[in-house]
Amino acid sequence: MNFKIIVTSTVLAASLFSASAQADITLRHALLGTALDMSFAKKGGNTPAFKEFMKEGKNPYNTDKEAIEHGESLYMTGCSGCHGHEAEGKIGPGLADDYWTYPAIATDKGLFEVLFGGANGMMGPQYVNFNTDEMLKIMAWLRSIYTGKPKKAKWLK
Ligand code: HEC
Repeated sequence: MNFKIIVTSTVLAASLFSASAQADITLRHALLGTALDMSFAKKGGNTPAFKEFMKEGKNPYNTDKEAIEHGESLYMTGCSGCHGHEAEGKIGPGLADDYWTYPAIATDKGLFEVLFGGANGMMGPQYVNFNTDEMLKIMAWLRSIYTGKPKKAKWLK
């Protein structure tokens, strides 16, 4: 193999690799910026909805009535103790208004990152309690009770 062939095949292999790697978004920890280790995810969450979310970072459940209802009951079990039954805030901040400690929460990707990876103090990684599909359902319910300004709702764009 001469040098030119080696270079050409290396470039080709690299571009093929990046094409497949680019198919999915990269999820990052809200505080650390490091890539989230998805191997911690609970079983059963890699549903078609989650695969779709991983393509562009948009939650397909936002418009799904059944998923939103299921999300509400999951929220009551796992989040309401700290964030309040109407997400009005308690130990943790309110989640229905448009003030966010982490502004990225205005996108579905940013919201998922805080859920999966956790943030400060009592806000631990939620992969302990919920699989990724369940997290999308909880997120969809939170979006459905949003009381903030419509123009701040980046997830709708
Ligand atoms: C043990 C208490 C506790 C539980 C359970 C908990 N949280 Fe939190 N959460 C907190 C605290 C405290 C913060 C503030 C952390 C920070 O500012 O870094 C927080 C922060 C957040 C934020 C960031 C809010 C912002 O303004 O940027 C979101 C979103 C969130 N929680 C969603 C959830 C959801 C959804 C669940 C359930 C799956 C959940 N949390 C479960 C305590 C909790």
